[in-house]
Amino acid sequence: MAEIRIENLKKNFGDFIAVRDSSFTIEDGEFFVMLGPSGCGKTTTLRMIAGLETPSDGRILLDGEDVTYKRGAERDIAFVFQLFALYPHMTVRGNISFPLRLQGLPRREVRERTEEVARLLKIEPLLDRGVGGLAAGDRQRVALGRAIVRRAKAFLMDEPLGALDAEFRDLMCEELRLLHKRISATSVYVTHDQIEAMSMADRICVMNKGDVLQIGAPMEVYNRPATKFVASFIGSPSMNFLPAQGNVSPGDTEIQVNGARLAMPEAREGLARTESVLGARPEHITISQDGALRGRVFAVEYMGARQLITIDTDAGRLRVRAPNTVRVGDGELVGLSFDPARVLVFDPASDRTLNSALFDADGEAHAHG
Ligand SMILES: Nc1ncnc2c1ncn2[C@@H]1O[C@H](COP(=O)(O)OP(=O)(O)O)[C@@H](O)[C@H]1O
Ligand SMILES: [Mg+2]
Repeated sequence: MAEIRIENLKKNFGDFIAVRDSSFTIEDGEFFVMLGPSGCGKTTTLRMIAGLETPSDGRILLDGEDVTYKRGAERDIAFVFQLFALYPHMTVRGNISFPLRLQGLPRREVRERTEEVARLLKIEPLLDRGVGGLAAGDRQRVALGRAIVRRAKAFLMDEPLGALDAEFRDLMCEELRLLHKRISATSVYVTHDQIEAMSMADRICVMNKGDVLQIGAPMEVYNRPATKFVASFIGSPSMNFLPAQGNVSPGDTEIQVNGARLAMPEAREGLARTESVLGARPEHITISQDGALRGRVFAVEYMGARQLITIDTDAGRLRVRAPNTVRVGDGELVGLSFDPARVLVFDPASDRTLNSALFDADGEAHAHG
């Protein structure tokens, strides 16, 4: 069990900044997910935590102990690699028990711990099979088994499900979550897939271009994104963005889009320019004849109980999630209303959210004044 603390961590490769200046604490027993697009510095951060990469600056503390310049082998942290390279000539048992045999533990203990892990992962019947002929999911379980058999202080996983197809990924997500519940080891999980992050994380750390933008519970980053990037990266289909006009001053509760006045949560920050960006998720827009903004239906996609309606307005194209009871046809002129408690406004220069502070982490708007 371990707490991992990162203090002003930096990593440059020559002139290139891979990790600019990260500070955060991963709590003991937490399932912490680092989420961001390819190249944003996730793997580099994880490799520094593992001791596989030396930071350019900053500190890493494991349970309060400074391990910044300790070798990986001295950190008691298990790394599950992106490409889970199993030893192809060994059996499942041989692969899982490898770290224990390396430590020179007694044979009996090696056997017991290997079998315990195989039971946990439900691969006991495969123990004496070679890994060559195993299905991808079973190979992944063997890799997980080899990682957890050591009972390390923390587990680091770098896109461990990347090689699996979508259906199997869902199953493995669930598997990992259950496994984490049972052993509650500190886990740091890297992914570029926001759905994976949302479904597994205790907290998500959203990164972009070497910067940590926000750390919070899944519902918090979804409902109170700190920046437009976070708002756009999390949620599918993505949040809608429209250009908005007029000054934003602290305390304002209205914004203009193409002449339509839309109510919004009180702005906490002002903006010294007249152009901002309005953001609204597809489920926070409704089609209603008295809607302030008008547009024409471009396409309707049915998705079981719900439908996704694409609408062209003079301010731009929007996607609206609506129940199937709403009947509209292609080309129809409709009005749109925006949930006044949910409309976000962003500063296009800094990307910051100007008015997101009105929500609780769980998305309930609370009374203000
Ligand atoms: N050893 C290296 N030498 C030079 N550049 C590197 C090295 N490792 C990573 N980078 C660069 O640092 C950036 C972040 O990489 P990485 O941490 O692997 O991103 P992610 O895992 O988020 O996709 C990328 O632009 C990558 O090309
Ligand atoms: Mg990576």
